[in-house]
Amino acid sequence: MSDQIAVKVAKTVPAGATAVATCAFSDHLNRVPGVRKAALDRAGFTGSPGSVAVFDDGSQAIVVVGLGPSDTVGTAQLRRGAAAFAGAVGRHRRLAFEYPDGAGDLADGARAVAEGLILGSYSFDQFKPTAGQAPRIDSVTLAVGDDAQDVRTARAGVALGAAVADAVCFARDLVNTPGGTLTPPVFAERAAERATAAGLTVEVMDEKAIRAAGLGGLLAVNQGSTQPPRLVKLTYEPAADDDAGAGTGTSKDVDTVALVGKGITFDSGGLSIKPAEGMMDMKMDMGGAAAVIAAMCALPSLDVGVRVVGFAPMTDNMVNGDAQRPGDVFTARNGTTVEVLNTDAEGRLILADALALASEEEPAAIVDLATLTGACMVALGDRIAGLMSNDDDFRSTVADAAERAGERVWPLPLPDDYRSRLDSQVADIKNIGGGRYGGTLTAGLFLRDFVGEGIPWAHLDIAGPAWLAEADGENGKGGTGFGVRTLIALLEDWGENEADGDDEDVE
Ligand code: BES
Ligand code: ZN
Ligand code: ZN
Repeated sequence: MSDQIAVKVAKTVPAGATAVATCAFSDHLNRVPGVRKAALDRAGFTGSPGSVAVFDDGSQAIVVVGLGPSDTVGTAQLRRGAAAFAGAVGRHRRLAFEYPDGAGDLADGARAVAEGLILGSYSFDQFKPTAGQAPRIDSVTLAVGDDAQDVRTARAGVALGAAVADAVCFARDLVNTPGGTLTPPVFAERAAERATAAGLTVEVMDEKAIRAAGLGGLLAVNQGSTQPPRLVKLTYEPAADDDAGAGTGTSKDVDTVALVGKGITFDSGGLSIKPAEGMMDMKMDMGGAAAVIAAMCALPSLDVGVRVVGFAPMTDNMVNGDAQRPGDVFTARNGTTVEVLNTDAEGRLILADALALASEEEPAAIVDLATLTGACMVALGDRIAGLMSNDDDFRSTVADAAERAGERVWPLPLPDDYRSRLDSQVADIKNIGGGRYGGTLTAGLFLRDFVGEGIPWAHLDIAGPAWLAEADGENGKGGTGFGVRTLIALLEDWGENEADGDDEDVE
């Protein structure tokens, strides 16, 4: 649980800063202020995005940060460069980052730099008390030049970036916390605490309420556990818009967007048990729920204009004498009967109930995030999420939001003719597709059956990017908080895109 570093904005680099970042474009290495090209060459510095060259004389360090070619620089390069700087400053505690000329829109750029600085200095040391005592970054000043208006613009951007990065770090903390510590009751408690403090409405369903609500999938997965399940429902109401309506003071005519996140606090596979190798990182199987909860906690400070309701079903997937058996059948929230032939395909079972609940809100759209299939990592690797949808326009809207946020997603199809692979002999649907191929698509098709008629829905399979074995850009090893930024970008700009629900065709 890292303490958030403070990002300030000033016209110039403050006198007390002992490490100063200066940016370099790879095609202009001879124009880096204060550093000669020969020195950069000697350091083997090429200016590629995220590369750094450190010139430290003991009292002050100049850190040259690569942004790549000058004609491609944008928020992704600034975020990455700022993260690389934060990772390269060693023992320096008071930092400054000189905002580069020619890096595009200042508000967006300052936001990206703030995100990169905070995300790049994240560490999870709850269980490493000695590491927690090491010198930490005190503050970073973003120096933007002499224009007072630029200072104001950058300050606003930094405030947004800090709110977003803070949310991402919260999601990372949750994902990094071991499954034996972050049990469903603890997860629900942490979510409720933070959401209440942020001003959201919180409802936590315990086992009794889950049973009363007929959440058969959540109960089926939970059967083999000594830990009780939870379902956390969060609601964000935008502040009443004084300009809209005749001063009604309500937000009744704004859209509702529903979010759903897979919250498996540990996935052993159940009776269809995973091999040891495949189980090691399975505390991360709640990354979807963490992203939904963390993103929602940021909405009030970002003054988002759309109503948002989030559902996070939580359980671990364990084995005991009561564990569900392959071949067992349960009835989901929407009345669909499900034959469970592989207990390791458990995420879709808890999402089935949560998607049905979300649909009951009659939202303008639903987005779910889930560490759902290893097959998605086979398809796209560990850095790119799979994006599936029942609505082409909505899929583009989500893909655009991810692009703006600097998170990588790629569209995958939901082929209608593959749905028959989920036909069951004994129930409405079975939970695996049979055969080795296309497991991400059959998982997506399974989920689609639980989305209410006519509701645009997008599914992000984040099995890969929710967790990294190696650091990459602004993400260190371990939990990344993937999805938080995409959700925030989507909700911040809701209504600005034609395809956001309303009168679009739904298949
Ligand atoms: N949580 C896993 C998916 C996963 C695997 C996430 C690796 C992150 C990294 C999921 O519950 C699972 O086990 N899926 C099975 C589905 C199969 C049984 C149809 C899988 O991917 O093997
Ligand atoms: Zn599983
Ligand atoms: Zn799982």
